[in-house]
Amino acid sequence: MSYNFMTAEEAASLIKDGEIIGLSGFTPAGSPKAVTTELARQARQKHERGEQFQIGVITGASTGDSCDGELTRAHVIKFRAPYTTNADFRKAVNNGEIKYTDIHLSQVAQRIRSGFLGHINTAIIEACEITEDGRIFLTAGVGISPTIARLADKIIIELNAAHSKTLIGMHDLYEMERPPFRRPVPIVRPSDRIGLPYIQVDPSKIVGVVQTNIPDEARGFHESDPVTDKIGQNVAEFLAADMKRGIIPSTFLPLQSGVGNIANAVLSALGKDSSIPPFEMYTEVIQNSVIKLIKEGRIKFGSTCSLSVTNDCLDDIYENMDFFRHKLVLRPSEISNSPEVIRRLGVISMNTAIEADIYGNVNSTHICGTKMMNGIGGSGDFTRSAYISIFSCPSIAKGGCISSIVPMVSHQDHSEHSVNVIITEQGVADLRGKSPMERAKAVIENCAHPDYKQLLWDYLKISTKGQTSHSLSAALGMHHEFTQKGDMRLTNWSKFQK
Ligand code: COA
Repeated sequence: MSYNFMTAEEAASLIKDGEIIGLSGFTPAGSPKAVTTELARQARQKHERGEQFQIGVITGASTGDSCDGELTRAHVIKFRAPYTTNADFRKAVNNGEIKYTDIHLSQVAQRIRSGFLGHINTAIIEACEITEDGRIFLTAGVGISPTIARLADKIIIELNAAHSKTLIGMHDLYEMERPPFRRPVPIVRPSDRIGLPYIQVDPSKIVGVVQTNIPDEARGFHESDPVTDKIGQNVAEFLAADMKRGIIPSTFLPLQSGVGNIANAVLSALGKDSSIPPFEMYTEVIQNSVIKLIKEGRIKFGSTCSLSVTNDCLDDIYENMDFFRHKLVLRPSEISNSPEVIRRLGVISMNTAIEADIYGNVNSTHICGTKMMNGIGGSGDFTRSAYISIFSCPSIAKGGCISSIVPMVSHQDHSEHSVNVIITEQGVADLRGKSPMERAKAVIENCAHPDYKQLLWDYLKISTKGQTSHSLSAALGMHHEFTQKGDMRLTNWSKFQK
């Protein structure tokens, strides 16, 4: 069949008010760029004419500005799921304009299949190649593409020449069955391949193909700083020590690592630690640091949902595909983040916390318990099923006015039952096998910033004794002080005891 090649303008006009659209990609990698930008422009025009035009948006994870940014600023998003990092979207969510459902990324495809999120009317999928018989070859991020392509009524393809066709063959696309017909996911090594390198659809569902040449809207990285470097070093030393005492086998275990500067610093430190052997990644995002370590032979293989790298790094991969082809695989998010596979492989998870409490509960999503930051992403998928789950963060934020170690987290994403280790630039709290009160001592002693240590010890003194000692009136006192006076250091526990 020959496809209907069209402009982004024509493709966007196929999307009607009230529809739910599903987007390809995972992070800005592999997300659509042209049709969503045009959709936002057309929505603005409709709104100016007084016409109603709003849609639901379901993605694999965060996208680039031409999806979340453009659509938010055009006030076109009625609801959206899951994770996003866009600042304008964050504002619209926190002021109540957009309904945001934050979901574990491994569960998005399943929830779509099961109808929890409504019916996908249109899938917009970025591809590096399509064939006449309906094979879609994806680009640098997979996300929920196989599921939305299968379930959507219509598919719009952005055929993006900025992505090299050398990517063909790197994807391993496998979709789970619905219960009760689901079978085990047969991955026993990060490099195992279990699916197809393309999505097969009925070609008649492809209602339009838009040819583009737009690079991924990759985020850059800050230079590393002494705090992130020290966190990285602490993580590497902790893992090397666990290997030395036989908790981690001498062949090492696959690692998962989150996004951002801390994740980059941790991986750089692991790469430099000669006591740690070359290792594998079973993760959802691969950043520049992983590509560098693959080139250096420190990382043997990377299984991921996206190549969330800068554009020069992506070009480097494309130009050296003979080298990278057998060292990387791109999977859908329900497989890259599959709790079943993560538990089987013994993945060591390493994610970043907004705040952790003295008992080991972690907040990854909400600032001061109310304002959404980004979302839970894959942190819960990995943490809950990991062989060892690690959270790291700087011990303080906002110039020291906020302690990342608090008596009680103001919002809880990961519980004390799932979190094994907390690491800041101050040190490491190994919580495994410890009672809550032993954990509190380890976290305050090893992870809290010196400015906050005494405050946290004093909190324990005013707490009601129990398995998990707390003062219910003072537990969020440090947050309260920050919202009132802008500095947690001013907390005076006696105020909460009256
Ligand atoms: N209270 C208030 N603000 C805080 C804070 C706290 N306890 N801790 C950090 N912040 C602020 C920082 O000051 C910074 O603000 P700014 O943007 O105004 O400078 C912002 O939060 C981000 O902090 P930063 O230290 O730069 O961390 P980051 O970019 O690594 O992001 C998370 C940290 C937790 C927000 C991020 O990792 C995330 O969204 N995690 C959830 C998803 C996830 O873990 N996915 C799994 C793997 S991809």
